Amino acid sequence: MSGGLPGNIVLIGFMGTGKTTVGRLLAERGSMKFVDMDHIIEERAGKAISRIFAEDGEPHFRALERNLVRELSASRGLVIGTGGGVVLNADNVRDLGRSGKVVCLVAGPDVILRRLAGDTSRPLLAGDDKTEKILKLLESRRLLYDAIPLKVDTSSLTPMEVVEAVELLLNKQPTRTS
Ligand code: S3P
Repeated sequence: MSGGLPGNIVLIGFMGTGKTTVGRLLAERGSMKFVDMDHIIEERAGKAISRIFAEDGEPHFRALERNLVRELSASRGLVIGTGGGVVLNADNVRDLGRSGKVVCLVAGPDVILRRLAGDTSRPLLAGDDKTEKILKLLESRRLLYDAIPLKVDTSSLTPMEVVEAVELLLNKQPTRTS
């Protein structure tokens, strides 16, 4: 852990809720460093997430994700954009929560579908019936996202409006010292 730095700001949320776009802006405004978990995983693996899923399987991806959470949770002063499935492992949420403040970005299924319409980089939404896949995944994870107390609905906000909403929310929270 790096002494003196403020805790991390961790953005959690389903695919297409704006974690990466908002995280970048948030970090810029707060002079913090932004890290995108999927991006780090891809860089280290030397291949795209979709190839990791196809060649090594989802459990392998989840193990890489788990290890990276442990690593990043030991740092401070970061804005962390997580992958949408980080909530599947309760240890991830616990560790990230101990490292700073966690905010869950949410959006309606129609908005998620619109934002991801032409996207081919999400293996869990590949193939036909994207709507069906989004609805099923959202439903299966609903309780996990719901369990995160701080939420911002990004459905009808611009990225900068989301940043402001997150800042407002975080400024109301007591700062953790450990
Ligand atoms: C996933 C979300 C993706 C990526 C992977 C799995 C998920 O990240 O980690 O495709 O399980 O929801 P984004 O939320 O950044 O798209």
